[in-house]
Amino acid sequence: MDTQNLIHGDSTDIMRQYADGSFTAVITDPPYASGGMTASERRRRTSAKYQVQGTAKTYADFPGDSRDQRAHFIWSVEWMKEAYRITREGGWIMAFADWRQLPCTSDAMQCAGWIWRGLVVWDKTEACRPSLGMFRNQAEYIVIGTKGSLGSEQKRPVRVTPAGVFRKYIKPGDKQHLTGKPVELMEHLMQVLPPNSRVLDPFAGSGTTILAARNMGHEGVGIEITPEYVEIARSRLAR
Ligand SMILES: C[S@@+](CC[C@H](N)C(=O)[O-])C[C@H]1O[C@@H](n2cnc3c(N)ncnc32)[C@H](O)[C@@H]1O
Repeated sequence: MDTQNLIHGDSTDIMRQYADGSFTAVITDPPYASGGMTASERRRRTSAKYQVQGTAKTYADFPGDSRDQRAHFIWSVEWMKEAYRITREGGWIMAFADWRQLPCTSDAMQCAGWIWRGLVVWDKTEACRPSLGMFRNQAEYIVIGTKGSLGSEQKRPVRVTPAGVFRKYIKPGDKQHLTGKPVELMEHLMQVLPPNSRVLDPFAGSGTTILAARNMGHEGVGIEITPEYVEIARSRLAR
């Protein structure tokens, strides 16, 4: 794996450099701009929002997570439009969201031109923090869309119907990023892609998507703005 498949920079600028239809799929876990019920809670540093204080392992903060919902929506439409342009006809978008940003994410996806196809649920299990008197928010969601109808190459060799719920607990010690996702979850999402797909993650974090793409025989390209995570992703990919 060429670790240069992990590009250090702002995805808004870098996505513009790709030609139309360069990718089969954009699979990404963008900043959610969530993590609280009030504006001041959401404006906290990401390490305060997404990590239990006093945890032994510390992670770098990352930007783009403090927008209010309207600004988050506009920003999401912008990057999803660019993702649309550089994805080929029949290709995919898969974007993570939590319960608070789920409606905003599916709206933004459709405003950007994608056809919204459904959701995959990541069930993080009952090990998640409880909220007393309320249901456990133990799921995150992957909003699935396509650029027009599924490509003919998609309908032929890929005859799978993967489960729409993926249950996996991620141990805090296994994560390489404040909001790191399990590699197996990303591999699960990639089951519907045609062989030898080219996958872009414009918010690559610790490189989980790119690692999963490699494991699944696809080419992965990641863009990440935070230098600490670029370093982590590159060393993960070089291993
Ligand atoms: C939710 S995290 C992704 C974590 C990743 N799924 C993992 O498993 O490691 C989002 C990442 O997007 C990065 N980011 C935020 N704004 C960005 C931008 N404009 N361009 C590139 N990366 C950006 C942040 O630094 C952060 O690492």
